[in-house]
Amino acid sequence: MLYSNDYAADFVKSVKARDSEFTTNQGDQPLIVQFAAKEAQVSRCRKSVCPFASGIDLNCGCPQRWAMAAGYGAVLVNQPELVSDIVRQVRNQINKPSFSVSVKIRIHSDITRTVDLCRKAEAAGVSWITVHGRTHEERNNPVHYDAIKTIKESLSLPVVANGDIKSLREVRIFIR
Ligand SMILES: Cc1cc2nc3c(=O)[nH]c(=O)nc-3n(C[C@H](O)[C@H](O)[C@H](O)COP(=O)(O)O)c2cc1C
Repeated sequence: MLYSNDYAADFVKSVKARDSEFTTNQGDQPLIVQFAAKEAQVSRCRKSVCPFASGIDLNCGCPQRWAMAAGYGAVLVNQPELVSDIVRQVRNQINKPSFSVSVKIRIHSDITRTVDLCRKAEAAGVSWITVHGRTHEERNNPVHYDAIKTIKESLSLPVVANGDIKSLREVRIFIR
């Protein structure tokens, strides 16, 4: 899985942004295109990426201050309605059931808020959720795998646990 990352707003507006930020080739499969978005405008990106991609991912995990101040990234975990609205709009506008609509989040220090966010995204039709097990304030602290476990147990959809992986040998796939 490869991630191509862009700001949905620039991507929608500018041919130059699309040409410079998104290139691919037939070897890029499966290809998930990740956007930083703060409005449902990400759904308008679908025409540019759908023919080439297997899915769209919404970045709700970027902790950089400038991104959060501009309303992107990890600040979105405080806006469950907006996140689920974006998921729903993308899902509804893509007439291809196999096309994935996923989100990547960081956790809150209050796990019930994170679970609430994930449940709302699940109800909106998200395909899976990647959980980076740190809050936006945490950088090199150990990942809160207990929080990721609680989230997984609260949902029916696949959850990808992210963070603190130092080598390919540490990667585990659990299917239940
Ligand atoms: C410089 C840098 C840029 C990153 N950019 C993205 C990004 O655009 N999208 C994303 O989902 N994660 C991004 N990440 C996060 C990583 O994909 C991954 O989730 C994280 O490094 C895993 O946690 P770890 O720090 O414990 O290894 C970035 C990380 C770093 C260090």
